[in-house]
Amino acid sequence: MAATSPPIQLEHVTKRYGNVVALNDLNLSVQEGVFGFLGPNGAGKTTAVKILLGLTRATSGSGSLAGGAFGSKGSLGHIGYLPELFRYQSWLTAREVLALHCELARIDPAKWSTEIDRTLAIVGLADRGTSRVGTFSKGMQQRLGLGVALLDDPAVVLLDEPTSALDPVGRHDVREIIRALRERGTVVFLNSHLLSEVEQVCDGVAIVDRGKVIAQGKLDELLGTSSVRVRASGLSREGRTAIARFGELDDGADGAITIRGIDRERIPDLVSAIVGAGARVYAVEPQHETLEERFLRLLGQ
Ligand SMILES: Nc1ncnc2c1ncn2[C@@H]1O[C@H](COP(=O)(O)OP(=O)(O)O)[C@@H](O)[C@H]1O
Ligand SMILES: [Mg+2]
Repeated sequence: MAATSPPIQLEHVTKRYGNVVALNDLNLSVQEGVFGFLGPNGAGKTTAVKILLGLTRATSGSGSLAGGAFGSKGSLGHIGYLPELFRYQSWLTAREVLALHCELARIDPAKWSTEIDRTLAIVGLADRGTSRVGTFSKGMQQRLGLGVALLDDPAVVLLDEPTSALDPVGRHDVREIIRALRERGTVVFLNSHLLSEVEQVCDGVAIVDRGKVIAQGKLDELLGTSSVRVRASGLSREGRTAIARFGELDDGADGAITIRGIDRERIPDLVSAIVGAGARVYAVEPQHETLEERFLRLLGQ
C-alpha cells in the first residue's frame, strides 16, 4: 500500500471540535509538485495539516502522509513541517536551532554539520549561521523555520501560511525557496488564505471553505479570466461599440476600461478590434476574480 498511495491523502476526513465542524468529509489527494490549500480564515486548513501530522485526530475518515499512517514514524521520518506560528529561542544561533532539530529528528550526529550547512544555504542564511535568532528580521526567522522543515531532505513539506506575516521581500524569498524545492522534486503542501501567494507558486490548488473542498484543479482554470482592463487612447465611439461586443464595459476613474465577462481566449481579438478602430493600446491586464468573488460564485452553484 505504501508504495502506491499518493504522498498526501485525506479520505472522507471529518473533524469536529464540539459543535464546530472544522473538516466536513474532506477528500484530498496530492501526487506531486506544489499544492495550494486555499481558503479563508477558519476554513479548516490548519486542522487538515494537524491531522496529516497526527497532531490531532480526525473524528472520522482515513488517509496517509508520505506513505505512512498519520503521525506514524514511517510518515514523520519523511516530512518537514513549518507551523503557522512559531518562535525560536532568541538566544540561540541559527546553527544551534538547526542542531536542536537535528537532535529531535534523530538525525545521525555525524551528519549534522553538513545537513545544517545544506539547509542554511537553501534558505539563504549561509552567512548568518552563527547569528542569534534575536537579531533576525521576521523574514529571516521565517527562512530559518523553513530550514528546520527542510532538515534531512524530506519528501513532503507542509507549510502553514508561510508568507502571511512577511513583507514583499520576505514573500519573494519564500517563494523562491518553494520553487527550488519543486525543482528538487519535493512535494510541497502550502496552506494559505492569500490567493496572490498561491497563484505564483502552485501547480494545483484546492479551494476549501467550511471544511469542504469546493473546487480543485489548476488555479487559472478554476478562476478563469472574467474580465480584462484596457488602457487605450483615441478610442472613438465606434471603437467602444466594437469592444462592447466582447463584454460589458466599465469605465474606471483612471481612464482605463474594464471589459467584464470576456473569455480569455478572446483577448487577442479584443486587442485587434481596439487597434482596428484606430486607438493606441498601452496596457491589457487580465483581471482575476477575487477569491471572495470566486467563493460566492462556487457557493451559489
Ligand atoms: N483546538 C480547537 N478547538 C476548537 N475549535 C477549533 C480548534 N482548532 C480549530 N478550531 C475551529 O475549527 C475551524 C477551522 O480552524 P482552522 O483549521 O484553524 O482554520 P484555518 O487554518 O483555515 O484558518 C475554526 O472554526 C476554528 O475555530
Ligand atoms: Mg490556519
